[in-house]
Amino acid sequence: MASLQKQNNIHIDESLISRQMEFCKMNAELLLQRFGTRPKALVKIYGCQQNISDGQRIEGLLEAMGFDFCDNTEDADLVLFDTCAVRGHAEDRIYGNVGALKAFKARRKNRIVAVCGCMVQQSFVAEKFKKSYPHVDLLFGTHVQHKFPELLYEVLSKGSRVFDISGQGTIAEHIPTRRTGVKGWLPVMYGCNNFCTYCIVPYVRGRERSRNPEDIIAEAKEMIKEGYREITLLGQNVNSYGKNFEKPYSFANLLRDINALSGDFIIRFMTSHPKDLTDELIDALADCEKVAHHLHLPVQSGSDRILKSMNRVYTREHYLDLVKKVRKRIPDISLTSDIIVGFPGESEQDFADTLSLIEEVGYSALFTFAYSPREGTPAAKMEDQIPAEEKSRRLTVLSSIQEKISEQQNKKYLGKTLRVLCEGPSKKEGYLNGRSGGNISVEFAGDATLVNEFVNVKITEPLSFVLKGEIAE
Ligand code: SAH
Ligand code: SF4
Ligand code: F3S
Repeated sequence: MASLQKQNNIHIDESLISRQMEFCKMNAELLLQRFGTRPKALVKIYGCQQNISDGQRIEGLLEAMGFDFCDNTEDADLVLFDTCAVRGHAEDRIYGNVGALKAFKARRKNRIVAVCGCMVQQSFVAEKFKKSYPHVDLLFGTHVQHKFPELLYEVLSKGSRVFDISGQGTIAEHIPTRRTGVKGWLPVMYGCNNFCTYCIVPYVRGRERSRNPEDIIAEAKEMIKEGYREITLLGQNVNSYGKNFEKPYSFANLLRDINALSGDFIIRFMTSHPKDLTDELIDALADCEKVAHHLHLPVQSGSDRILKSMNRVYTREHYLDLVKKVRKRIPDISLTSDIIVGFPGESEQDFADTLSLIEEVGYSALFTFAYSPREGTPAAKMEDQIPAEEKSRRLTVLSSIQEKISEQQNKKYLGKTLRVLCEGPSKKEGYLNGRSGGNISVEFAGDATLVNEFVNVKITEPLSFVLKGEIAE
């Protein structure tokens, strides 16, 4: 029902996707001719859950072209990298790994090398791949992902290299999706409008746009039917969901509507931005019995000066008030966060403010990053960049303090029985891994038949990164 959207031009519906499905069929024939047998694809996905979810659509399209999947580069006829640009480290790895495919291609010239995703959406990166990586046959950006079959057709039929980072924000519906694993990813919106000064995401993902609730709910139903017991709703800032709709419909409405679907499953979501976490959403979190009691609420820094310079648009006080409010409403909520250390100009005092904030909040887990300058973002041009050694020193200090906090936080689970979704075998023989509602890793003895089942686990030994326990009666 595209009528909900104020901007219908960004909505790509069934008829346009059916054109892409025609290309899939044509590609299937060309691929059979090219390889003489059913082709195999290796898809490597970097970055966040949004990228994993994109990757599952790309794999769905590959499947429609007759591809089987493999894990080993040598077995592959096509290698596709879905890339991430969030930190320099991620990009360096990708340059290295794509570079290494030169020999892979040289050994068998008919092989295909493709790169897509956030990193290559940057025009200087696309240029670099074009010029210095001649073994890359196909490169496409985040806005034309739904056109992958058409772009590949050009490579296959003309033998030419294809590079396309054109386009504006799109919402492409009805793309076949190849889901694997226990975790069900469900994008609710794309893009970001926040322009935190360190962040590349708004530049490579475009402006915020929300999928229609009908499309999301239909996909959730499909996932439940497929047997998914955990659905994670994805967006860079889910609090902005629905802002482009004519009829008011918020993320809280969406949570309630998905909560009302029948089936034994839990709902998670990420990420909410502290600047606009509403009471309405906190209420929905508290009311909906299927929504896990976990809130990922990235704070980034505990210093007002740095928060301002990051353009996060909230203060330390506002954040701490939110935490109080959420805990009051949902006492057993587990809170997690992202922190950047070594943002330009971060003094010892600013860093100390971050340390005191994490002590005050008591997160169950923290994702910590050393600031990485991203070309084209305001922070990359700021003076007073922090030396790499100092950033890594702060990272070490932060992580070791958080380790103690997590250990302390996790003690409250000793002797408690938690409902855990079993994800798979753990490294320890005979043991399984899963996650509690609070999204904490749980390890217990059990056999593989329990994977993708909810299991009640009594916690016997809570550690900082994992709760060890045993299956309860
Ligand atoms: N939209 C989400 C975050 C997406 S990126 C949010 O606003 O919370 C995930 C995390 O990567 C961010 O929360 C931030 O902590 C980190 N990050 C983003 N850009 C970074 C950079 N340039 N250097 C280091 N860490 C960065
Ligand atoms: Fe990046 Fe900020 Fe948008 Fe998150 S909210 S994706 S950190 S710009
Ligand atoms: Fe995600 Fe990396 Fe893109 S974190 S949105 S894949 S830049």
